[in-house]
Amino acid sequence: MNVGTIGILGGGQLGRMLTLEAKRMGFRAITLEPLPNSPCGQVADEQIVAAYDDLRAIGELGARSDVVTYEFENIPLQAVLALERDRRIVRPSGHVLRTTQDRLLEKAFLRAHRIPTPDSAPVAAAGEIEAAETKIGLPAILKTTTGGYDGKGQWLARSTEQLRVAVAEARGGPLIYERFIPFDRELAIIAARNVAGEIVTFPVTENVHDHGVLSMTIVPARIPPERAERVREIATQIAKALEIVGAFAVEFFDCGGEVMVNEIAPRVHNSGHYSIDATQLSQYEAHIRAICDLPLVAPHLLAPAAVMVNVLGSGSGDHLDGIAEVLREPDLKLHLYGKAHAALRRKMGHFTILAQSVDSAIEIAQRARARLRWIDRREGIAV
Ligand SMILES: Nc1ncnc2c1ncn2[C@@H]1O[C@H](COP(=O)(O)OP(=O)(O)O)[C@@H](O)[C@H]1O
Ligand SMILES: [Mg+2]
Repeated sequence: MNVGTIGILGGGQLGRMLTLEAKRMGFRAITLEPLPNSPCGQVADEQIVAAYDDLRAIGELGARSDVVTYEFENIPLQAVLALERDRRIVRPSGHVLRTTQDRLLEKAFLRAHRIPTPDSAPVAAAGEIEAAETKIGLPAILKTTTGGYDGKGQWLARSTEQLRVAVAEARGGPLIYERFIPFDRELAIIAARNVAGEIVTFPVTENVHDHGVLSMTIVPARIPPERAERVREIATQIAKALEIVGAFAVEFFDCGGEVMVNEIAPRVHNSGHYSIDATQLSQYEAHIRAICDLPLVAPHLLAPAAVMVNVLGSGSGDHLDGIAEVLREPDLKLHLYGKAHAALRRKMGHFTILAQSVDSAIEIAQRARARLRWIDRREGIAV
């Protein structure tokens, strides 16, 4: 296939970083996203400003692209199915999106392939919560079956009363009841599979979350080699079973030396940002190669260790103070996404540090993070 133009559903930072790589490689990029001047739209050749369920606009994106991809999994499945009906090439396919965007289907897929994952039960009607509680126990996490991201649409319940509150807050929407896993750490991996079926895996990472939002990724994860190998094996098994074409992420809980899959993201992922600066092949380039029928090569780290820190909004102003000091770190790369408003815990940017050891990367990361703060420029002070 001779790809000239890549269509991207979604205009956030993942689309932006994907586009920057696509442009470097000589492709054109068009994004479709409802909000004008999106992080991706700012760097793409064009942005179609339209809702994700506007099938006329989706059709236009398909007609103007050689291959269409998506940068987040909460786009309506119907949009991808409509493109496929028009015989447009969408990668990953609608089949992959269907399985991974619904937590119940995802869990069923994992169980069918005997991949360990926390016990769970569907809660479609209020009456089913007691049965789920009896079967799985407390504490538990209730999650909306679709549409969640960055910890949104989730409730941690330690008591029957908290379960009741969660169900009430979910307003009758379908839920999944998951066993709460007292994990030692969270792990993730990026992998990619191309049209020819070649599969490559990135180094296993350790992910630290804050209120459900990724705050730091540590590479390589501080786990024994057999456990890292197990994570790679599971990612490879998922790539084959789903016949996914593109880069994707798998999140894991590491609990008592056993790994279990938390979720699969059928797209480039926040925990792979480090790869822009820390591996010779980034997850974004891997995705573009994969969907454009190009070869993949095994990614490897360019330094012994790397740490990626998300620069999250604090709700206290839209001006990032401390950039000049942070840029004095010789092995730090700062990425900002061009978002105007730094709402609380909104992903505004990230930085990556390369170092000789994980400990020193973390130390530099913490020092850099402490220097950055959001201020209201009009006041010139942190509020
Ligand atoms: N079953 C669970 N046990 C313990 N912690 C969980 C569980 N499910 C989710 N979490 C915590 O919440 C975070 C976000 O949940 P996740 O299912 O990954 O949703 P999202 O789509 O928002 O990333 C996880 O990274 C983890 O820290
Ligand atoms: Mg997650």
